[in-house]
Formats: sequence, structure tokens, C-alpha cells
Amino acid sequence: MGHSSISPIGIFSIYFLTLLLCTQGRHHFHKNKNSHSHYTYAPSIAPPPAEAPSPNSNDNYTNEPGFYDVRAFGGIGDGISDDTESLKMAWDAACQSELEVNVILLPRGLSFVIHPNIFTGPCKGSLLLRVDGTLMPPDGPESWPNNTSKRQWLIFYRINGMSLEGTGLIDGRGQKWWDLPCKPHKGPNGTTAPGPCDSPIALRFFMSSNLTVQGLRIKNSPQFHFRFDGCESVHIESIYITAPALSPNTDGIHIENTNDVRIYNSVVSNGDDCVSIGSGCYDVDIKNITCGPGHGISIGSLGNHDSRACVSNITVRDSVIKVSDNGVRIKTWQGGSGSVSGVTFSNIEMDSVKNPIIIDQFYCLSKECNNKTSAVFVSDILYTNIKGTYDIRHPPMHFACSDSVPCTNLTLSDIELLPAQGDMVLDPFCWNAYGNLDTLTIPPVSCLMEGIPPQSIVGNEIYHC
Ligand SMILES: *[C@@H]1O[C@H](CO)[C@@H](O)[C@H](O)[C@H]1NC(C)=O
Ligand SMILES: *[C@@H]1O[C@H](CO)[C@@H](O)[C@H](O)[C@H]1NC(C)=O
Ligand SMILES: *[C@@H]1O[C@H](CO)[C@@H](O)[C@H](O)[C@H]1NC(C)=O
Ligand SMILES: *[C@@H]1O[C@H](CO)[C@@H](O)[C@H](O)[C@H]1NC(C)=O
Ligand SMILES: *[C@@H]1O[C@H](CO)[C@@H](O)[C@H](O)[C@H]1NC(C)=O
Ligand SMILES: *[C@@H]1O[C@H](CO)[C@@H](O)[C@H](O)[C@H]1NC(C)=O
Ligand SMILES: *[C@@H]1O[C@H](CO)[C@@H](O)[C@H](O)[C@H]1NC(C)=O
Ligand SMILES: *[C@@H]1O[C@H](CO)[C@@H](O)[C@H](O)[C@H]1NC(C)=O
Ligand SMILES: *[C@@H]1O[C@H](CO)[C@@H](O)[C@H](O)[C@H]1NC(C)=O
Repeated sequence: MGHSSISPIGIFSIYFLTLLLCTQGRHHFHKNKNSHSHYTYAPSIAPPPAEAPSPNSNDNYTNEPGFYDVRAFGGIGDGISDDTESLKMAWDAACQSELEVNVILLPRGLSFVIHPNIFTGPCKGSLLLRVDGTLMPPDGPESWPNNTSKRQWLIFYRINGMSLEGTGLIDGRGQKWWDLPCKPHKGPNGTTAPGPCDSPIALRFFMSSNLTVQGLRIKNSPQFHFRFDGCESVHIESIYITAPALSPNTDGIHIENTNDVRIYNSVVSNGDDCVSIGSGCYDVDIKNITCGPGHGISIGSLGNHDSRACVSNITVRDSVIKVSDNGVRIKTWQGGSGSVSGVTFSNIEMDSVKNPIIIDQFYCLSKECNNKTSAVFVSDILYTNIKGTYDIRHPPMHFACSDSVPCTNLTLSDIELLPAQGDMVLDPFCWNAYGNLDTLTIPPVSCLMEGIPPQSIVGNEIYHC
């Protein structure tokens, strides 16, 4: 399968990163000229302050090789001071270490304010960034450093082998960003003010591999909480993501151009998608996650600006979706090419979900999208053992497929969806959707077409990935 394709956005970001990295590189170079290399262990550079400003922290620094406690690099952790330089120094030291595993420690009881930054590899060994305390960006747009991008906070770039874990908290301090007048209904008298509205993604992993994120709590990101793009082998385990239900665009975990992803045993409640899977993702396994309130689990949106999208081998199983706008959704724009195929949604409990099962090939934000003669082809989608309740304002099953490119081989098995309130039952909706029922469903589905569509999509090159 030819999976990878770099989007124009990807190319743009690479260009941008290159610029940023160049400036950063110069910065480091000067530093190293003036002081000794900071790739030695800390105390020689920044002796720990005599009276530790941390009433809650009883921990000694771990003075063992392979441990890089930010305090040893001058980190203060009082929730006010800018500790960016100490974290950068700890990172650089750990990254240059010849040891197999190197631990950068943000100790418990302390709060570190870190400015937007790119942490760059490759590193010699693997890194464990252990957040036991609290990690925060500057508070809101007014405190954001003027010379840094407002589109992301912490970027991990070109790292092979990194774990982000700990018992601590990553607090994105999103409120002031969500309240900007350019956000929906936040302008004067509930309007939406025009103009750019960039807000930072909290944690972005870019062109990296062998990543683990484990055990952390992360809350209130100004925008997406996690974004993985161009990554391979990502394991997310036991994390808790929270943001208010009305916080705009605060997707929990977004992946794109990323493969071999496992997201297990985690909880996400927020104001947008719980997990969103963009173009170029394959081999994704999502298991035992609890989503909601929020917008559910989404594949897409795909095919925007007539782009080509390929998504395959995605499984979502043993999960709960509650009080959400959608349950399991596939959304594509009109236009575009490529395909979404080999998707399994199995053993999912729905609780008061507006659109528990939905395919929307007419995705459009402006209400002004024209129908086009191509679309991302959706096929081989299995829905099995999906039970629970739906919000009666919307049909429990909605398969709206493109006029020119029907969805094919949708399979429904053991579906039981009941209205959350009252006993008015809404009929499933289908448009140009082909598939089979393995068992009877509740409510009954009679709108799927059997067999294969008359148009020959299957043979058309542009829908192959
Ligand atoms: C720090 O370590 C020293 C030497 O191991 C020990 O005597 C001291 O009690 C420790 N301090 C704290 C606060 O744990
Ligand atoms: C950024 O620039 C604006 C206007 O020039 C200024 O008001 C603001 O304080 C600056 N922010 C920071 C963090 O320096
Ligand atoms: C932004 O400006 C600060 C202070 O002048 C400087 O330390 C920092 O390196 C700059 N950051 C970037 C990304 O240029
Ligand atoms: C907001 O609404 C009030 C009352 O309708 C009106 O007097 C005021 O001019 C409006 N303000 C703006 C900025 O539109
Ligand atoms: C990930 O780690 C494994 C084992 O350490 C290694 O074999 C593999 O090459 C790494 N993957 C990538 C993409 O570097
Ligand atoms: C599912 O995830 C939750 C955390 O969200 C965890 O408490 C529970 O033990 C997990 N269940 C299984 C079967 O692993
Ligand atoms: C699908 O993805 C899973 C990981 O989620 C992987 O184990 C499996 O081999 C993949 N299947 C195919 C056919 O590539
Ligand atoms: C696009 O096609 C759908 C289905 O045929 C139809 O309901 C919708 O009105 C069309 N939209 C436009 C803008 O033509
Ligand atoms: C239909 O999709 C299922 C997976 O849901 C797959 O196993 C099967 O091979 C597909 N059938 C055809 C004819 O492609």
C-alpha cells in the first residue's frame, strides 16, 4: 500500500520549522561559545539554589547518571518564573547523553512555566520526560512571547524513542484563548469577530517515532491537546484529558500521516473530537477509551480542497461514548480522492449521543459547498455490537454518501440504539450507501442498498491508496 503523502500544510510546516530551527540553532551556538558546553551534568552549571523555593517538594534531586532534574539546571517551579531555559538545558543534556535511557524530571509539588519551544532530536539514547509536577504555558495570548508562533506550545521534532509520562498535570491554561473575540460567539453581543484566531496546540509530535504517552493528566488546551503528524509507532496509555464541553476546537488526540498507533485505557472529555484521525493514518487501534462530553471519535475530515486522503485499518473497540454530538463518525468533504477502508467499530456503548453512527460525505463548514463529482471513497466499514441510547433530535444511524462515489460494504451487526428519552423512534438515514446487515438491528435498517453499486468505483485508480 502506498500510504504516505505529504500535504501542502506539511510542507509549509517543515519550511516553518526549518526557519525556527535555524534561529534556534544559532542561539545555541552562541551559548556554547560563551559558556562551557552545557552537556555536562547540571550542578557544575547551575548550582541548585540554597533555599529551595518549594515548600511542597521534599524530593532530593536524583543525582544519578541519566537523571536530569530541571531544578539542577536552575528550574524554579514556582508557577511564575520562566523555566524554559532550564528545561531546554536538561533536554539538551539528556539528548546528548550516551546512556540508553535518560530521564528529564519535572518534580512533583512544583509548577513549571515553559514558553513555546521545539525540542529537537535525534537524541543519542531514548528519553523519558517525566512530569510529576505541573507543566504550563504562559497564561493566555497577552503573555505569549511575541516572536513565537501562536499555533503550538511544545513541539517534539525528529525524536526516535521518547516517553512522556508521570503523575503530574499539563495545564494548557486555555480560557483566555477560548474567550478571544474571534472565537465563535465571543465577540461583542455574541458575535464572532473577524480576523486570525490562532491558538496553540498544547503538545505536538512531528516526524517522530517510538513514542509513548502514559499516565498523565492534561487539561484545558487552548486548541488540540495532542497532535501527532508524520509519526510512527505511538502508544498512548492511561491518560486523562479534560476541557469544558464548550471550549472551541479542543480535540483530545489528533493524528495524521501517522501509523502504528495504539490508544488504550484513557478518558477524554472536551469541546471537540475525542480522537480525530486525519489523512495518511493506518494501523490504528483504539481500545477502552471513554469519550464525552465532546464530539466523539472521528475519521476525518478528509478530502478538503480536493485533496487525496488514505486511511485504513482502523479499529475502535471496547469503548464508551457519552453525551456527545457524534459517536463514531467518518466525515469527508465533497471532492477529493483516495479512500477510507478497513474500519471496525466494535463493542461500543453509547449514552445520549446525537449521531451514534454517522458517515457524512457532505461535510461543509460554510453551508456553501458545491457537490462535486469525486469524493474520498468509503468502503469496508464494520459496525458491530454498538448499543445504548441516542439523542432523539438526530437519527441514530446516518449514512450520507456522495452521489458520485457511494459507500460500499458497510456491515451492521448487533446494533441496538434506543432513544435516550421518550419512545419516539427515528428511522436510520441512508443516501447512496451499500452494505449488509449481519443481524437484525434496533431500530431496523431498511435503507442500505445490497450488493455493489452500478458505477465502477472499484476499478478507478483515483480511489485506490
Ligand atoms: C536528601 O538526601 C540527603 C542525603 O541522602 C538526606 O540526608 C536528606 O535527608 C534528604 N533530604 C530530603 C528532604 O529528603
Ligand atoms: C507583545 O507585543 C505587544 C504589543 O507590541 C505587547 O503589548 C505585549 O506585552 C507583548 N507581549 C510580550 C509577552 O512581550
Ligand atoms: C524570542 O525572543 C526572546 C527574547 O528576545 C529570545 O530569547 C528567544 O530566543 C526568541 N525566540 C525565537 C523563537 O526567536
Ligand atoms: C450590543 O447590543 C446593544 C443593545 O442591543 C447595542 O446598543 C450595542 O450597540 C451593541 N454593541 C455592539 C458592539 O454591537
Ligand atoms: C523503534 O524502536 C525499535 C526498537 O528499539 C527499533 O527497532 C525501530 O527501528 C524504531 N522505529 C523507528 C521508526 O525508528
Ligand atoms: C479501562 O480504562 C480505565 C481507565 O480509563 C481503567 O480504569 C480500566 O481498568 C480499563 N479497563 C480495562 C479492562 O483495562
Ligand atoms: C492492522 O493494524 C494492527 C494494529 O492496530 C496490526 O496489528 C495489523 O497487522 C494491521 N493489519 C493489517 C492487515 O495490516
Ligand atoms: C448535494 O447533493 C445532495 C444529495 O444529492 C443534495 O441533498 C444537496 O442538496 C446537494 N447540495 C448542493 C449544494 O447542490
Ligand atoms: C467487506 O468488509 C469486511 C470488513 O468489514 C471485509 O472483511 C470483507 O472482506 C469486505 N468484503 C468485500 C467483498 O470486500
